[in-house]
Amino acid sequence: MNRPSPHSHRRPAALLAGLAALLVVIAIAVVPRFLETAPEGPSIGGPFSLIDHTGRSVTDADYRGKVMLIYFGYTFCPDVCPTTLGTVTQAYDLLSPEDQARVVPIFITVDPERDTVDQIAQYVGSFSPAVVGLTGSPEQIEPVMKEFRVYARKADTEDGNYSVDHSSILYLMDAKGRYAMHFPGDVNPKDLAAGLRKVIGK
Ligand code: NI
Repeated sequence: MNRPSPHSHRRPAALLAGLAALLVVIAIAVVPRFLETAPEGPSIGGPFSLIDHTGRSVTDADYRGKVMLIYFGYTFCPDVCPTTLGTVTQAYDLLSPEDQARVVPIFITVDPERDTVDQIAQYVGSFSPAVVGLTGSPEQIEPVMKEFRVYARKADTEDGNYSVDHSSILYLMDAKGRYAMHFPGDVNPKDLAAGLRKVIGK
């Protein structure tokens, strides 16, 4: 039975009020997402679950609140990685102590077979106590490389060993773990420090 309500003449007003309320709810839900989305398009990076150079299991969430300066490489790298980590250390040293406390330089291996916890600990320690080294099983490392679109390919060397040809990019992830900017590995320390300050300031 559809008995007409005695207040049916109020319905359009109620409907409009309802629509307005709905629009407010949609705006509250959607607008912040637009504001938070980085305008540069496709996302770089994502969650990871690895082992740090002290042997502790860590995830990306452990570094929330800090700007992650991430570099992928391997400890047996003859030239590019040591040079780049030297740049990372110099850039870090250019920051004020307050800014340093808000940055964590992270070295992630692309050669988990050889870069054991001990190996990577010795390596990052030779640059700066501030640098965190991350390794893991190949199954843990591979998806992280994909998230950051890291290229790495093994090449046999004459001594029966192998080297790893790899991309050399420094990724700056903001305090919420989102991609902020990147630099080529051969950036100069001053520019890298300026980039870090910019992301810290966000
Ligand atoms: Ni390298």
